[in-house]
Formats: sequence, C-alpha cells, structure tokens
Amino acid sequence: MTSLTAALTGALDCFHNEQADAKLVYGPQRQAVLSLKKAEHAFETITSWPNYQASDLHLLESMAKEANIAQIYYKDESTRFGLKSFKALGGAYAVTRFLQEHLSLLNGKEPSMSDLLSGHYKEQLKDVVVSCATDGNHGRSVAWGAQMFGCQCIIYIHRDVSVGRQSAMEAYAAKVIRITGNYDESVRQAAVDAKKYDRAIISDTSYEGYTKVPANVALGYTVMLSETVTQLNGQIPTHVFIQAGVGGLAAAVCGYFWDLWGDKRPRFVVVEPEAANCLQESAKAGELQVVEGDLDTLMAGLACGEVSHIAWEILDKGADDFITLSEDAVAPCMRALEQHTPSIEAGESAVAGLAACIVGAQNAKWRLALGLDEQSKVLVLGTEGATDPELYQELVFGA
Ligand SMILES: Cc1ncc(COP(=O)(O)O)c(C=O)c1O
Repeated sequence: MTSLTAALTGALDCFHNEQADAKLVYGPQRQAVLSLKKAEHAFETITSWPNYQASDLHLLESMAKEANIAQIYYKDESTRFGLKSFKALGGAYAVTRFLQEHLSLLNGKEPSMSDLLSGHYKEQLKDVVVSCATDGNHGRSVAWGAQMFGCQCIIYIHRDVSVGRQSAMEAYAAKVIRITGNYDESVRQAAVDAKKYDRAIISDTSYEGYTKVPANVALGYTVMLSETVTQLNGQIPTHVFIQAGVGGLAAAVCGYFWDLWGDKRPRFVVVEPEAANCLQESAKAGELQVVEGDLDTLMAGLACGEVSHIAWEILDKGADDFITLSEDAVAPCMRALEQHTPSIEAGESAVAGLAACIVGAQNAKWRLALGLDEQSKVLVLGTEGATDPELYQELVFGA
C-alpha cells in the first residue's frame, strides 16, 4: 500500500507551557466561562434544529501506523448542517440565545425553540440586526442562524477573505461589508458600527467587557465534543491536537474535557500558523500578546492576531503545549485525507492539528517534546470541509 503521509513534511516550533498542570482542578472560575452543566442546554437546543446529525468520528489507522502511534481519531465536521464547518454550531447558537433573551425582555417570557423556529415571532424579529466580523465560517453560522429565526444580518470581512467565502454568507441573505484592514480591524469596525446603528454583535472572540456572547459561541461548539465522547465509547485520548485562531475552539475543547475527565484529561496541544501565533506568544510572555501584520497564512480560519480573553482564562493553565505549524504541511495533509479510505474532505484550517501530530510524531526531537509514543491515542478535530471550494480544488487536485 502506498504511504499517505510520505509527502507530509513541515516544521514545528514547540513551546511547552510550564503553567499547565493536569492535577489542577477545573474549578468554579473556569466553569463560569464553560462547563459541562452549561453545555447541556446547548446540546438540547442544537440537537432540536432541523437536519441535526452527529458528525463522524473516523479512525485514521493507516496514518497512525505510519506515524508510529497507536491511534488517530478524526472528528469530521466537513458536513455539519450543510455549512461545512464546526462553526455552524457556535454562531447560530449564540444568535438563538440573544434572540431568546431579546424576546423575553419584550414579552416577559422566554420563547421555546419550537416557537422560534415556527416563525411565531416574525414581526418582532424582522428589524432586529445581528452582526459580526469573520474570516468566513463564523459569519456563515451567524447568517444561517439569522435566516433560520427571521432577523437581519450584517457581516464584516477583511481584505483577504475570498469571494467564494463572501458568496457563501450572502447565500444566507446576509449583507457583507468588506474592509481594507486585517481580521482584527474588521472586529473593531463591526463593534463601532454596531454601537452606532444599534446592532447586536455576535462575535466568536471576546475582549474587555464583552464575554457573554463568545461564551455562548463556545458552548455551541461543545455539541461536537459531547458527540465525540459518545463515539469514543469510554476511551480517553492521550493527546488532543487542536488548531487555534482566537482560541475559542481550543478553550471549548480544553474546558469541556478538563471538566469531564479531571486529572485524566489528555495532553492539550494548541496548533497555530507561524504568522498568526498569538496564543503561543502569549504563553511565552505569560500574558496576552498581540501579533501584528498581515497574518498571512493559507489557514484562513486561523489568521488571528489577538487572543479571545475568555479563551485565555482556560488555556493559560489548561493547554500543555503551544506549537506552530509551517505552511508547507497544509496541502499534503489535505491530499492525504482525500486519498484516505474512506475519502475525507478537509479544508485548509481543518488539517492543522492532524498535520502537526503527524509531522511531530515522525521527528525524534518533536516526538519527545510532545510526549508522543507507540501508545499515544490522538484526537484531532477536522474543523471544516471545502469551505472555499476553488482553493480546495487547487490545493488538492492542482486544478
Ligand atoms: C475551520 C476552522 N477551524 C478552526 C478555527 C479556529 O477557531 P478559533 O478562532 O475559535 O480559535 C476556525 C476559526 O474560524 C475555523 O474556521
């Protein structure tokens, strides 16, 4: 059989976080941000939406063998709600929570999910506007949620977001505004305009004084984790390699498993692009750091220079390693998944965790640094499918 991973090379920069301690209890402070208890509501809500289906957990046995580790579990978000990424869970859930709160202030009682879905509150919602900045996937989720519940949606994108990603949001009736700056500037612009025009910001990143909505976004992501736990059927992975932009996803994964498994939790390895390593820089400095510049990376969903504040509250002591992955590993890893049996569609930002795991396991120095060996069972999250179909074709088939 031909090797799937032979072409998969790349470089890692590994930083071990001495602040992390598996013995540390998760505790009430972190539970106030994200907990198993709070995640129950998200699970009940999201699993009641039309067309809900748990996503697959694949075993990448041949790749694990080639990397000389025991197993790789790949949670495949490429079909989630037809939006093609895990982000479908977060933004739309935060829209739901915002609208439920808005309507309960107006009517004195919180609407049920079925009333919201049935269009019962159409009149009261038609002039409500939700808004956010995005590099694609989060905005698609907010736009989809707004359309599902009948409110309006205005999305801000930065200069490098592809036209394909823009159209995908417009397909859910969102108005899309492109700015000339980078992702972090689009976040600020959306916030300024929301204040001016009385829009509700549904952001996946949190900053000073803005935490409630992004915490709901992260709770939405936990549906994927709850499914994973069921699919793992009692197994606890030794490692989770999880890619990060602002860190919201990584914090949800780390917080959920830490609250669930306590000191048996896996080793959490956060993976970022070299040019957008704000979490790694923050870990090295012991406090939040901003990465300036173009944040130029193929992994569009990870092109973030500022860490989400609430994410840091979990990751500063929860993430064991902060590593970067070089760009050359991305396309070969997408190809390896396409050639896998069964074939798996994975976009550029989906593969960072898997690529880092394989590259790390195949190099003696990084293997040791990351504590990988023949007994390691690694969980990775394939967070998106071909969310930019043209780029996918080019990277995977050279078309
Ligand atoms: C496909 C994909 N994976 C991972 C991430 C990282 O999520 P976060 O920004 O919460 O760290 C994103 C963010 O947009 C994404 O689109």
